[in-house]
Amino acid sequence: MANQDFQSFLDEVVMKNDIVEIISGFTVLKRSGSNMMGLCPLHNDKKSPSLSVSPDKQIFHCFGCGAGGSVIQFVEAAMNLDFMDAVKYLADRVHMEMPDKRSGGDKQKQLMASRKKERLYQINARAARYYFDQLSTPEGRPGLEYLKKRKISNSTIKKFGIGYAPEGWSNLIDHLKKQGCSESDMYDAGLVRKRENGTYYDAFYDGRVVFPIIDVRGRIIAFGGRIIRDGTDAPKYWNTPETMIFKKKDNLFGLNLAKNDKSGRLLLMEGYMDVVALHQSGFGNAVASLGTSFTSEQARLVKRYAPRAVLCYDNDEAGKKATLRAGDILFDEGVKVRVLTVTDGKDPDEFIKNKGPDMFAVLIEKAKPLIEYKINEIREKYNLNDVDDKVDFIREASAVLARVKNPAQREIYVGKLADELKISADSIMSGITEFERKNDRIEARRQENARLRQIVRRESAGTENARGLYWAERMLLNQMCDKQVMKRVKENGITPDDFICDPVHRRLAELLFELSEKGVCPEPADLIGRSLPEDAGPVSDILMSDKNIKDKASACAGPIETMMKAKEGRLIAGGADDDEQLMRLFEKKKQRKL
Ligand code: CTP
Ligand code: MN
Repeated sequence: MANQDFQSFLDEVVMKNDIVEIISGFTVLKRSGSNMMGLCPLHNDKKSPSLSVSPDKQIFHCFGCGAGGSVIQFVEAAMNLDFMDAVKYLADRVHMEMPDKRSGGDKQKQLMASRKKERLYQINARAARYYFDQLSTPEGRPGLEYLKKRKISNSTIKKFGIGYAPEGWSNLIDHLKKQGCSESDMYDAGLVRKRENGTYYDAFYDGRVVFPIIDVRGRIIAFGGRIIRDGTDAPKYWNTPETMIFKKKDNLFGLNLAKNDKSGRLLLMEGYMDVVALHQSGFGNAVASLGTSFTSEQARLVKRYAPRAVLCYDNDEAGKKATLRAGDILFDEGVKVRVLTVTDGKDPDEFIKNKGPDMFAVLIEKAKPLIEYKINEIREKYNLNDVDDKVDFIREASAVLARVKNPAQREIYVGKLADELKISADSIMSGITEFERKNDRIEARRQENARLRQIVRRESAGTENARGLYWAERMLLNQMCDKQVMKRVKENGITPDDFICDPVHRRLAELLFELSEKGVCPEPADLIGRSLPEDAGPVSDILMSDKNIKDKASACAGPIETMMKAKEGRLIAGGADDDEQLMRLFEKKKQRKL
């Protein structure tokens, strides 16, 4: 049974069991406004009725003991049953068959998620097959011609599973539908995109060569598509967005092949095309990060497969910058990094076309260790015959060497510099130590800043403003089931991250946003069913706390305003990077309290 099916089973159980009827079996309920009130049977409620039940919303909440939720949570608490037994009791009561007697809710959820993932892998495999097959059809002819123009052989096309998505809005959709795939699975795999009106269209609609991105277990997790037509404004590449099975920062293009390489060294490229060209030329250890800057997760992935890496980025300013960034990340993860400089052409792909694989092998051997590369880059800027320049050069180089923590390694570089500049190793060393001290000071200040910021945050938690924000968040959450309210919230750029007063607020906001993305207008009882079990009480409290508001859209204006102001304030506080500024902020807060 699919996840969705189980959820709708639960929804039906909740719908068919009237909460007022159930709770009336445990306590006497009396009408009070739009709600019913009674003594709470879940705690020792002797004096004043603190249990409130909403017949419209089909939820309850107790002001005394904080319990709350839908009819399921009530039965759980009142009859001391676990979740599945409470569901079973209620299902029996209305003559519904339990879907699967063996598995509990969490297991069920896990099972659904893993089945969903399996479907996404399968659908990606089918899409890849489709794109690949297009290369031998008349519609796919431009794709094949493009690949030939880029000198990619048939066997390389096969090895990488490269394909082509011809122009058109629904080529893939039509094909996958015939194979029995649902559009919502296609959407969740990132293969199709959604229009305003809810209909779908192919993600690659403008004629793109398609590269499957394959994880180390050989599963197709995403695609990158390169446009083949010249002179369009469309982006050169379009990649699958993050999905259940694709986390960009955790994968490297080509690693599925490169992991079998025995050289103990990975070649890191900037682009898909570079990786493909290198493999074709016999460099089976080439990989690329996926159209984003290199991450520490990717560095750890590199380290798992090879102790050494060579950065082979494009030979332009952007490439150099990216090299330094990726270099530092790899270095910090303990990978031995070298930097290769492409001397002919803008990237390794072009170099190989111009000079051939043998010359590329020479470039690899000539690649410089990261530290040396960095020092060389600095040296370029200075005239070492000029005394002032020389001093500046030493200072900049020392800053680089201050990052080298291994004493032997540091000494080697210092020795080299000393020889070159004809000054004593000691004087360079003492310069480095100074930098180290400075770095330590910066680090200490950074930590102090973080500490102060936390105090500012804590101090302001009790102020008027913070209380206002707390109620604004709750008020909005209470009304965000309403389409108009949700629209206003989104228009103002409020996201789940802006609900900061309570983790429950944030989780409920996430849920509401998620459902709204799917175009669902949730009922309060559904929201509880989709929340964490421990959130049922506080969530029902929030959902019940409205006061018969007529025009929700205008009632939400105040809370939205409050949240926007708070967000602005946070941005300012977050930007207060030097301690003076922060101190001022801190002092101001203190004064206000006095
Ligand atoms: N990239 C991207 N989106 C873009 C441009 C680039 O995701 N609009 C990513 C792709 O992963 C690409 C890499 O950045 O492979 C490097 O970009 P570039 O050097 O332009 O790509 P190449 O692979 O060299 O492409 P080509 O040789 O076909 O121009
Ligand atoms: Mn290129």
